[in-house]
Amino acid sequence: MSAPSRSRRTRAAAPAGPDARGTEIEVEVGPVAHGGHCVARHEGRVVFVRHALPGERVIARVTEGAEGAKFWRADAVRVLEADADRVEPPCPVARPGRCGGCDFQHVTLARQRELKAAVVAEQFRRLASLDVDVTVEEAPGSPDGLRWRTRTQFAVDAEGRPGLRVHRSHAVVPLDDCPISTAAVVGSGVLGQRYGNVETLEVAAGSDGAAPLVVATPAPGTRAHLPKLPEASVALRTPEGLHRVSGRTWVGERIAVRGREHAFRVGGAGFWQVHPAAPELLGEAVLAALEPRAGERALDLYSGVGLFTALLADAVGAEGSVLAVEGSERAVRDARKSLHELGQVELWAGAVEDALADPELPARGTDLVVLDPPRSGAGRAVVAGIADLAPRAIAYVACDPAALARDTAFLAERGYALDGLRAFDLFPMTHHVECVARFVRAA
Ligand SMILES: C[S@@+](CC[C@H](N)C(=O)[O-])C[C@H]1O[C@@H](n2cnc3c(N)ncnc32)[C@H](O)[C@@H]1O
Repeated sequence: MSAPSRSRRTRAAAPAGPDARGTEIEVEVGPVAHGGHCVARHEGRVVFVRHALPGERVIARVTEGAEGAKFWRADAVRVLEADADRVEPPCPVARPGRCGGCDFQHVTLARQRELKAAVVAEQFRRLASLDVDVTVEEAPGSPDGLRWRTRTQFAVDAEGRPGLRVHRSHAVVPLDDCPISTAAVVGSGVLGQRYGNVETLEVAAGSDGAAPLVVATPAPGTRAHLPKLPEASVALRTPEGLHRVSGRTWVGERIAVRGREHAFRVGGAGFWQVHPAAPELLGEAVLAALEPRAGERALDLYSGVGLFTALLADAVGAEGSVLAVEGSERAVRDARKSLHELGQVELWAGAVEDALADPELPARGTDLVVLDPPRSGAGRAVVAGIADLAPRAIAYVACDPAALARDTAFLAERGYALDGLRAFDLFPMTHHVECVARFVRAA
């Protein structure tokens, strides 16, 4: 069972009686569900319980819901019968009612991966009518599941203290450390400081060893007051654009895949895969899924600063071609700077939906497609546009298994079948999981 979406939530959890928040109930916890919680039942009502494990008996405190509502949300505040895979959370604020950044700190890493595999399988069963047998693979470099997040966005509370938000709340838990963020992100010095008129602080630490970049977003119509951050580059994000305060306004990334090295520039804390192992792991998985041949024509949709573009360009060689489509003009500018030596690459700035409607696209011919859409997925129209190009193989990189499963069903309608699925634990301690799926034309 999945957590309801925000719009459905509004209807289902709308006050239907006295507020039940704070009520404590004893429940036996059922299976894990998408969203970082498990499903329990209490007096006929579904209760989504965080900080619990399947099979446990807990006292759960209701955090959302009214007496007559169809479902409640709750936190396990006392464990009566603990599962063998329960551990003490390594972070002191990964607790009910405190920081909402992590979902699974109370679970061993091996069991976290099993829970995520169960969620992926459930989404495919429910949304694509497919039984998949998936193993969530450990990512190298973070054996304890900590210090892997190279990008972290901190919020700032009313007193000007940076931290992370309570789950499904605007309240901020002030922090001096975030143990899942890398030493470089924390070493930027943003935490434990006071800020004036700042709403968010995005910290990005690149793999080129340079100082991390801190991008502060001031409250609308105000002038931000920042402390000195000598260990970081600093920029301000305003409606007019990014303003340099000190150092660089971009971070540098370096990767090596199949013996070839690439360097990327990522401006203004723009999108880059968050786990340090992710670019190479996903890059290798995409190449394995597509098996590109010299001279083939590839399409990289939602291409960001060109991670998969560069790898595909190597694989198809100078006789082949790669067309990359990306909606963020800044990311396309970065890709242009990073990939200018690859003559077989062409970059289009604009929406994937528009690119697929461009008559030039079918005329070019497409052998391979990689797509890496945002959490919402590609959707029926984009999937139809891709299938119309009749590629030999499609690699779909997905950060939300529900969106992937939905798009898998749309691809099946258009004659493309799932022909391989891998999943990676690129977000330890959280409920997030990254998948790479291969699709080919159904026989
Ligand atoms: C998950 S990121 C993937 C980026 C890249 N593949 C990588 O691994 O670094 C998704 C990208 O899609 C872009 N994007 C989101 N919606 C888009 C749309 N409708 N059309 C084109 N690009 C879009 C975002 O700007 C972002 O760069």
